[in-house]
This record gives sequence, C-alpha cells and structure tokens, in this order.
Amino acid sequence: MEETIVIKGGNRLEGEIELQGSKNSSLPILAATVLVDGISVIENCPELTDVSAAVKILEHLGCKVFRQGTTLTVDSRFIDGCSIPDSLMREMRSSIVFLGSILGRTGQARLSSPGGCEIGLRPIDLHISSLRLMGVSVDISRGHISCTRKSYNSDTVISLSFPSVGATENIILASVLGEGRTVIHNAAREPEIRDLADFLCKCGCKVELTAQDTVIIEAVQKIHGTRHRVIPDRIVALTYLSCVGAAGGDVLIKNTDTDDYRTVLPFFEGAGCEITDKKESIRIKMNGRPKALRDIRTMPYPGFPTDAQAPLMALSCVARGSGVIVENIFEGRFKHVGELVRMGAKIRLEGRIALVEGVDSLYGTRVECPDLRGGGALVVAGLAAKGITEVCNISHIDRGYEKIEECLRGVGADIVRVNK
Ligand code: EPZ
Repeated sequence: MEETIVIKGGNRLEGEIELQGSKNSSLPILAATVLVDGISVIENCPELTDVSAAVKILEHLGCKVFRQGTTLTVDSRFIDGCSIPDSLMREMRSSIVFLGSILGRTGQARLSSPGGCEIGLRPIDLHISSLRLMGVSVDISRGHISCTRKSYNSDTVISLSFPSVGATENIILASVLGEGRTVIHNAAREPEIRDLADFLCKCGCKVELTAQDTVIIEAVQKIHGTRHRVIPDRIVALTYLSCVGAAGGDVLIKNTDTDDYRTVLPFFEGAGCEITDKKESIRIKMNGRPKALRDIRTMPYPGFPTDAQAPLMALSCVARGSGVIVENIFEGRFKHVGELVRMGAKIRLEGRIALVEGVDSLYGTRVECPDLRGGGALVVAGLAAKGITEVCNISHIDRGYEKIEECLRGVGADIVRVNK
C-alpha cells in the first residue's frame, strides 16, 4: 500500500503551527549518546523515519532507547558493538555520523560506505582524511570502512578544505573522549553544530566554538549523561514560511528560533510577505501574488541554506517576475524542477543555475518526490496550485517533516494523506 498526500490548492493558510525539533540536530546528538556511559534524555526529538533509523542503530549497538512523545531516553551503558550493518547504513546515509562516536567510545568502528543519495554523491573524503590526521587507521575496501584508534595524538590541527557539516561533527565526536587536543579550522558553523557542542559540554566534554570558524576540543577521560532539548528545525520553518508565501494567509509559527535563519527572511520580505520576527515565534502575512524573489545562491552557514532552496524555488514559481537560483552545495539538487514543470512552472536549468520565470498559476497533477526537500517543494507548490495535486513517494517527506499534513490542515489547507 503506497501512501500519498493529496492537496486541493487555493486555500489561504491561517492559524498557528508548533514547529518540530531539528532533524539535523537530533541525528548527531543521538549519535553522540553512544559516547556516554550512562543515560541521556533528548527532548524535542521529532518523530521522523530518519530518527527511527538512528534509534535502530543505537539499539543495534546495544543501547536501550525509550520514546515518550518527542522525548527519547537513551541508556548507552551496555554498548556491545562497534559496527553498523549495510542494511541500516542504507536506510539513512547520514548514519556516517555514528562513525566518530562509535570510534570515540570503543576505539574501533566498522561501517559500510554510505552510498550517494538523490541529491549527490555525498563523498566522505574529508571525514576520512581528518580521522587519519588524528592518528586513526582507516581501511576502506569492498564497500566497508574499518577504523581503529591505536593511539592518541597530543595535538591535531585539521584545516577543512570545505566547511563540511558531517565531517565537522565526526571529528568532534571522535575527539572528545581520550587524550589530546584537536583544533578544526574552516569548521562548519551551522546551528546544529552549536547544538551538538552544547549537548557534549553538558555531558562534561570540552568543546569550544570560536567566534570565527574554529572548533577546539580538549579530550576528557569520562563523561556522563544529561538532559538536552534539541533546537527547532530551521528548514521546516522556512518550508512553512514558503507555504504561506505561495498560498497566501496569516500564520504564526511557534517554538522557533529565528536567529538560525534570519539571513533568509529578507527573501520573504522582498517577495511582499509581512514578517513579524519575535525570535521564538515568527508571524508571516501574505496577500496576493508574491513579487519576484531576490537571486538565491546556496552557501554554507550563515549563507542561504541549501536545504531551503527547493521550498523557496516553489515559492518563486508563482512570483510576479523572474529569479535566478544557484545551487553551490550539492550537484544533484534540482530534481524537483522536473516535477514543478509538470505543474506548469517555467524553469530552465543551466548546470547549477536555475532560471525561474514566475507564472500566474500552477496546476495540480500527480507528482513524485525526488528527495526530502524536493518533496517539501511539491507541497508548497500544491498549496498554491489550481486543482488537485497528488504527491507520491512521500516516504522522502516523512524523513524530515513531522506530520506535515496535520500541521498544514491545522492552518486551513485542504490536505490529506491517503493509502493508495
Ligand atoms: C548535512 O549534510 C545535512 N544533513 C544536509 O541536510 C545539509 O544539506 C548539509 O549538511 C549542508 O548543510 C544532516 O545534517 C543529516 P556536508 P552533510 O558534509 O553533512 C561536500 C537535509 O535535507 N563534501 O556539509 O552530508 C559534499 O559533497 C540534508 O536535511 C565533500 O566533498 O553535508 C557537499 O557538496 C540534505 N567531502 C558539501 O561538501 C566530504 O567528506 C556539503 O556537504 C564531505 C562533504
């Protein structure tokens, strides 16, 4: 039985949305609980299939995990494994972030190489070269990564050629326990890195994020469990803002932190949205058709987030005017374009550049989610389109958007999840 999301477009969106916790913060923090010889309580953990996949990995490693609503309790006192089987790695490629924490706790790790995914090859060369610089022996053969830590360097300095989020997370997780000092230059600075560091410091680790792009880790011998509330999901917030921008309405998003995406708000204001930003809540009002968006160029944080590119492209499809979108982070992150064109969008692609010419209206039809954020874009488009849009392959959406149809129905969207 396949589930699909069916949207009858045209409704204005009015009311309140309680924002979910961050997927991209929950995953590295759940991986970090492997380091703890104790019990960790993680609050505001969204109910997503990617979080369920992370829980399966924790249980495979010997942890006991209990979920009460959005609170996950992880008992990692009896870790009895250091490997992740291919089946679990393939369920969620970002499981690579467990490499650092398994290595940090057990001194060894064996994972199957994470394949690429819908949005690109997703290489892990920066993860591997950094671990080797830290004195970890890494063998990659026949689709498996085997790591062994025989000794600790007293001092390791790593300069990342690209501020990779995953590589930064893996280096931190592999270096907080044991001995020595690790410094990362050109580290990723996404809010999710800050949240991971906050969790680890509450466990007794010593992780310092400097004002610029440097992370300094002083290893400690032992850490303890803690209680931690995951930060709100900034990408889901930007997706819901795009829904209102495209469909029109007046919506208040609660439990957010606009510090994490304030640099994106001018795009909505430029499109004619009225934004009231109160940091922990944000209100968006939109009447009529959006004006053309400013040109979008995805960049590492605090630049325009690549994960918001697809939802804002959907908004720009119905704008009055044209816009340019440049995807600088992932080479395969325009797969939603074909589906938007099926709905009547006018988009031309030139490599990593999309030229979007706004149209009066999109038209509902059957579309297929190509990936997680592309799925978010199709929901945005369906809400603005004339007629019925049937969104298929919604397992992609369920990876990162918690109860998306319930949230949107709660603000007046005509949207249901149906079993085909
Ligand atoms: C994280 O992926 C997020 N995933 C992604 O969100 C997000 O798009 C990305 O960061 C960028 O912000 C999670 O946090 C689970 P990267 P990650 O390493 O860590 C290249 C979503 O929709 N690179 O910063 O994989 C890579 O090819 C997901 O929620 C190397 O070349 O991102 C890409 O071009 C999608 N070598 C760029 O860096 C490496 O060793 C950014 O990758 C690692 C990365």
